[in-house]
Amino acid sequence: MAIEIDIEQNPTVELSRIGTSETHGEDSPYFAGWKAYDEDPYNESTNPSGVIQMGLVENQVSFDLLEEYLEENCEGEGNYLNSGFRENALFQDYHGLFSFRSAMGSFMEEIRGGRAKFDPNRVVLTAGATAANELLTFILANPGDALLVPTPYYPGFDRDLRWRTGVKIVPIHCDSSNNFQITPKALEEAYNSAMEMKIKVRGVLITNPSNPLGATIQRSTIEDILDFVTRKNIHLVSDEIYSGSVFSSAEFTSVAEVLESRSYKNAERVHIVYSLSKDLGLPGFRIGTIYSYNDKVVTTARRMSSFTLISSQTQRFLASMLSNRKFTEKYIKMNRDRLKKRYEMIIEGLRTAGIECLEGNAGLFCWMNLSPLLKDKKTKEGEIEIWKRILKEVKLNISPGSSCHCSEPGWFRVCFANMSEKTLHVALDRIRRFMERMKKENEAN
Ligand SMILES: Cc1ncc(COP(=O)(O)O)c(C=O)c1O
Repeated sequence: MAIEIDIEQNPTVELSRIGTSETHGEDSPYFAGWKAYDEDPYNESTNPSGVIQMGLVENQVSFDLLEEYLEENCEGEGNYLNSGFRENALFQDYHGLFSFRSAMGSFMEEIRGGRAKFDPNRVVLTAGATAANELLTFILANPGDALLVPTPYYPGFDRDLRWRTGVKIVPIHCDSSNNFQITPKALEEAYNSAMEMKIKVRGVLITNPSNPLGATIQRSTIEDILDFVTRKNIHLVSDEIYSGSVFSSAEFTSVAEVLESRSYKNAERVHIVYSLSKDLGLPGFRIGTIYSYNDKVVTTARRMSSFTLISSQTQRFLASMLSNRKFTEKYIKMNRDRLKKRYEMIIEGLRTAGIECLEGNAGLFCWMNLSPLLKDKKTKEGEIEIWKRILKEVKLNISPGSSCHCSEPGWFRVCFANMSEKTLHVALDRIRRFMERMKKENEAN
């Protein structure tokens, strides 16, 4: 039975500044779309006219491979529960299990085609990349300072980098004229705009491969960014949580490889974030890491990770899974092949509907250009109008570019790996019919 409490509508008891702050970012259309999906979720047999969730970056294309691993290895799992239970139940060292840190480091090397090395002693464990990014922000910047972040960016950064840390995000504006690539000029302009606002810049945070663009950052651009942060004496955080979801491993350059080729000169300002939420499709397990080349950052991040530890049970399970080379080799290859197939399927479907996307090679989403639909209303408001129609009429939740702080209206992020192929076909069919309707509307006007 629910307990009834007499709650005052306007309580006089106060909450903290953080408790009442609006920087949680949850009032954006990004989260409103999730709510619409929750209230009316698509189901092939029970709710075929419901909302299809294309705003959630989940990887569900390779669950069968994980399940196959579990089936083949579950006997061992049972044994470990019996034999190591007490030790595991008591383990809470913030260094984490060495076996897990080693396995994680090796997996990070493997998804980079062995082109980068990771020392397990520099691997700090956190509860997902969310915690890793916040924790690094706490360590690198003071409240009121800023990180420069290229736009468009993952909407969660508004919460992760700003809310509890009090740190600001200053955008590095990128646009479609060069496929949203980061240029030295854009970096310089963002830095100068922070200086004009008298905000101290502490670092640059990039996402490679990029969410929402679904594309890897070129090696020459990473070189430019490294030169920039060195010249300004600031940090570089490289969020590489989609590095195992690149359709061809050769097309991905990690900042780790670039540092190696520079004999780790100025490496102490570089920190890599990784997580198993996307590549292995395990966001519920909350497995993240910070890999820093800076000893002080490693030590402080470990201490601070006390607030966001990964359960010892999860560490132990994953240490054994990621050390199984037969499994990881097969998983990495098949997962890539499947994502590539999905990507081609969605790109082709959208093209048939008359929609172009940015050329991508990674991730679980594509960056779709609906700006021709905005006609003379090429504004954020025009974009939101289209987004609302797609949510209400087409029953698709996609993410408007403005929720990713894109400076050009009309772009949308569309996820393709969180549903079955069949559902993806339904979604593409809905989009095609919507585009036909829009065409007729335009002709009639
Ligand atoms: C670029 C980026 N960083 C961090 C995260 C958060 O990942 P995690 O589930 O590991 O906290 C996401 C999730 O979508 C993301 O896209």
